[in-house]
Amino acid sequence: MPELHIVVLAAGKGTRMKSARPKVLHEAAGLPVIEHVLRAADPLGAASITIVVGHMADAVQESVSRKRPGVQFALQNPQRGTAHALLQAEPYLAGRTGTVVMLSGDAPLLSTGTLRRLVATHADTGAAATLLTAILDQPSGYGRIVRVEGRVVRVVEERDASPEQRAIREINAGFYAFELAPLFDRLRAIAADNAQGEYYLTDVAEVYSRRGLRVETLVADDPREVRGINSRAELAEVSAMMRETKNEALMAAGVTIEDPASTYISPDVTVGADTVIHPNVYLEGRTTIGAGCEIHANVRIVDSTIGDRVAILNFCVIKASRIATGAIVGPFAHLRPDSQVEEQAHVGNFVELKKTVLGRGSKANHLSYLGDATIGANVNVGAGTITCNYDGTQKHPTVIEDGAFIGSDTQLIAPVKVGRDAYIGAGSSITDDVPPGALAIARGRQVNKEGWADKKKKP
Ligand code: UD1
Ligand code: CA
Repeated sequence: MPELHIVVLAAGKGTRMKSARPKVLHEAAGLPVIEHVLRAADPLGAASITIVVGHMADAVQESVSRKRPGVQFALQNPQRGTAHALLQAEPYLAGRTGTVVMLSGDAPLLSTGTLRRLVATHADTGAAATLLTAILDQPSGYGRIVRVEGRVVRVVEERDASPEQRAIREINAGFYAFELAPLFDRLRAIAADNAQGEYYLTDVAEVYSRRGLRVETLVADDPREVRGINSRAELAEVSAMMRETKNEALMAAGVTIEDPASTYISPDVTVGADTVIHPNVYLEGRTTIGAGCEIHANVRIVDSTIGDRVAILNFCVIKASRIATGAIVGPFAHLRPDSQVEEQAHVGNFVELKKTVLGRGSKANHLSYLGDATIGANVNVGAGTITCNYDGTQKHPTVIEDGAFIGSDTQLIAPVKVGRDAYIGAGSSITDDVPPGALAIARGRQVNKEGWADKKKKP
């Protein structure tokens, strides 16, 4: 097998996005556009990956290299067109042989299968260059494939096309396979004599044909795959297509999605069979949901792990937390990072957890803030319980051991520990540790003044 190298073009400004952020870093279905492109290429096992960066190069480089330390970056400055962009990769491929697969960083729907077919067609035909094309009903905005007697002779950009050429429905997808040997010398032969005054990579078709170098094409099976993102409207459309694909895959695997149109599930999320997802639910990042769960409407879950048969009731926000099998959370619960709800535990309405473990079978059902707390099994946290974990400078821990009963409206002034099976009277401000099995009451005594109201009314 000849060596395979990947080059991704990502230097363009993305003018039509009207954004301070580089186009390839805008998110489609929860991941940067360029990340989708790189993921499609991953299974090809390329010998090298080079990304051509230019406009806001640092931001693109930083975002990509965080996840992919092996990637190399070629700088294109100024940006003078796609052919000029590819030329900037030359020093990074010096001494290499084989095939270069060039991808557009702004076309995130391309599948690995289509890339593999592009590489296979290129190898089988022995071409010097192979272009991926697609047949579109609405070809406007794309370069058109001009054929003579079936063979590609040139690619004409929309701006430079005649009315007849604009009627051509076969378009250039912006993905290519090239033999390394003639590539860079031929790129240098490309001129900038077009409407944009740019060096168009698409001119390779002509430049190669003139030299008798063989140019082949592969027509994409699914024209949706070649969609490039040039504007915010296209970003939304492409995101919607990705969401649809994800939702369909989950439904095919046994997940009920009541209203796919209002369900937003990021690519890396997994959901077990027989889980039911109600409308307007957001499952983001590296979230894992078990089997037989019910996620009610208007819930957002980010980077969290949910066990089997868990019920998340309406309007919960859950971030970077773990919820074990059989637990019930919500409605209106907020789980902030590093919270852990153990099996069969209940978190009720208007309860906020932060960096807190709520043990097996324990309940915090109403109006509580539990932060930096470790709560054992079968604990009852009464309505309105607050852990006072912050003294203005530092955070302090609260420990509540198994079987304890915390009366309603208790303040636990941390650091503090409530022993196993202890009771706390309602309305207490607990400043000292409570021994196991004890009853702690820490509140002002009630005084009843008989007949006081009548006396007050007398002149
Ligand atoms: C390009 C093709 C067009 C094709 C379409 C498919 C050219 C001249 N045209 O048009 O035939 O139908 O893609 O989506 O190639 N880039 C750089 N440096 C530059 C210019 C662009 O790195 O100087 C990068 C961009 O960041 C982008 C990619 O190349 O990732 C494509 O550039 P873009 O300006 O979007 O080209 P299109 O007009 O879409
Ligand atoms: Ca484009």
